[in-house]
Order: sequence, then C-alpha cells, then structure tokens
Amino acid sequence: MHNGTSLTQFIIEEQRHIAGATGDFTSLLNDIVTACKVISHLVNHGALVGALGSAGTENVQGETQKKLDVLSNEVFIKSNEWAGHLAAMASEEMDAIYPIPAKYPRGKYLLTFDPLDGSSNIDVNVSVGTIFSILRCPGGGSEPTERDFLQAGTQQVAAGYALYGPSTMLVLTTGNGVNGFTLDQNIGEFILTHPRMQIPADTSEFAINMSNMRFWEPPVRRYIQECLDGKEGPRGKDFNMRWIASMVAEVHRILTRGGVFMYPMDSKMQAKGQGGKLRLLYEANPMSFIVEQAGGGAITGRERILDLQPESLHQRVPVILGSKNEVERILSYHQA
Ligand code: AHG
Ligand code: MN
Ligand code: MN
Ligand code: MN
Repeated sequence: MHNGTSLTQFIIEEQRHIAGATGDFTSLLNDIVTACKVISHLVNHGALVGALGSAGTENVQGETQKKLDVLSNEVFIKSNEWAGHLAAMASEEMDAIYPIPAKYPRGKYLLTFDPLDGSSNIDVNVSVGTIFSILRCPGGGSEPTERDFLQAGTQQVAAGYALYGPSTMLVLTTGNGVNGFTLDQNIGEFILTHPRMQIPADTSEFAINMSNMRFWEPPVRRYIQECLDGKEGPRGKDFNMRWIASMVAEVHRILTRGGVFMYPMDSKMQAKGQGGKLRLLYEANPMSFIVEQAGGGAITGRERILDLQPESLHQRVPVILGSKNEVERILSYHQA
C-alpha cells in the first residue's frame, strides 16, 4: 500500500504557484485525470471490452482511426466539456476545434490533446499513451476560434501525458518541474512516485525510425552515423537504439534514463509538403514543455520547438528532443 501524495493533493498545492489560477485549474486537471483513468481501463481491458481493431474511418491527417482513437477522443470530450473550465478543445481526431456546447458554461482555458498516442501499437498490446496541453483562451473564451489555439508552446499553462504501460502513469508539468504519478488501481488514485524528474544531460541511447534513413537530411545522417560508428568513430563510445513507435513511451524512457528521440524532417515528407510527422499543438509542444522542464532540449533541428508560432491546428513539425548535450550537438550539425 502506498500512502504518499495523491495527484489531487499535489495539484492543489501546485496551483498556489500559478499566477491568476483559481480552483478552475485544479478542477480542470482533475477532469483530465479522470479521462485518463477511463482510457487506461479501456486499454487494459482491450479485446474483453471490444476496444481493439480499426474504426474504419480516417482522421484529418489521412490516418486510419483505431476504435480506441475514437473512443478515447469521446472520453476526453465527455469528461471535460461539462464543468465550465474550458472554452474549446482540439484533438488529433477532430478536424476542427470543439467549442464547448451552448448547454454548458464556457471557461477561460483551451485544451488540446492526442487521445491515444502510438495507436499503431494497440492491437499488438504495446504501450500507448495520451498527451495533453492547456492554454489560456485569449479574450476570455466566449467565442473561441481556431486562431485562439495558435499560441507558441511557451504560452502553455500545463502539459502532461498518461502512459498506459505495465503500470499506468501520469507525468505533469505546470512550469515548475516535472512530476510522475503511478495509478494505484485499488484506490483509483494517482500517487506521486517520481518527484522532480530530470533528464541526464549525456546519453548513449537514441531513438529514430531507421527505415526512413534514405530520406533524412545530411545533419541527421551524420549524427546517426557517428552513433553507429561507436567506439571507433568520432564519439568514442558505443550507442544503443530503441524505437517503440509510441512517442509517450519514448519520452518516458528519456525522462527516466536519458536519451534522444528524433522524428526529423525528411525528403519524403518534404515532397508531400508536410512539415514533419508529429503534430505541433498536441504532440510536439506538450512534450517539449515537459522535456525542457526536466532539463532536456527540444528542437526542430534548426530552432527551439516552444518558440514556433503555430500556423494551423494540425500543423506538423520535425521533433528532436531529449538529453541536452546531444540535442545541442544535433542543433550545431544543422547550423554547420
Ligand atoms: P499517433 O498514434 O497519435 O498517430 O502518433 C504516432 C506517432 C508517435 O507516437 C510515434 O513516435 C510515431 O508516430 C511513430 O511513427 P512510425 O510509425 O513512422 O515509426
Ligand atoms: Mn494517429
Ligand atoms: Mn501521437
Ligand atoms: Mn493519436
């Protein structure tokens, strides 16, 4: 039995550090956490509750939606639309923004989320997650528009992810460091188990989808080649590789033991006019906020992700994040 700090207690105490935050913020986070618990239950029960397989539909990015992509999206909406804290939501699985329906009061925050990250792994029972980001709605939120969501990552009030792995965890930042909580299924509460998470500045582990190698830009090729050259190469040490294909699981590994994660720009995406693989508002920004708050770095290759001015709701960007010294090295290769 764990008798530690619950997430509810933690966020009430945390809120005292946020300028202008009222009970609204705590209550919003609680509703997000409830949604993650419901998704955790669905993911855990998988085929027993008929949750696996394809939904037979496509999202705005042309990806085939899994049943659990759609279900998790609905869970997030239902948990977060009624309480009066939000003006609107935006998600990977919805083409347009979701303004809070008129039957509920509208609040001052905006919520973006990736309801199920790594969903290509769901049918093979490998870790998946949920990513979320909270912004303030400019103008108070009575008539929210897509433009209200187009805020740089530096404006995020909070960001977090839930990881549905061997245990369910929730990792959160409100701009005051990063803390990790583990779901105690018996009491239904997340308990603080990983206080003040820090990413080691150095690493000898990288994560990249190597099947795209022939499409990479020269700086990325150079970096990975030097890792592969190991002890005999310019780095003078051997590297290990991991690729889970769940960004949440990769970021969690990096928060736990360091490493660098890359979904860089490549010529295949360039030819399609696509800015990258991962989505800025509900993947790259929240993860970059968390990684920076844990002492790591997060760039597109050429610039800091959190400084980007978003241009559209589902905009994609290249992502390189993790151990600070490696990210700085990769940045310098892009500048060379
Ligand atoms: P999602 O399942 O939310 O669409 O995101 C998938 C993302 C990310 O989690 C992962 O890092 C990457 O796509 C995997 O891409 P590849 O299948 O190209 O390796
Ligand atoms: Mn997807
Ligand atoms: Mn995702
Ligand atoms: Mn997703």
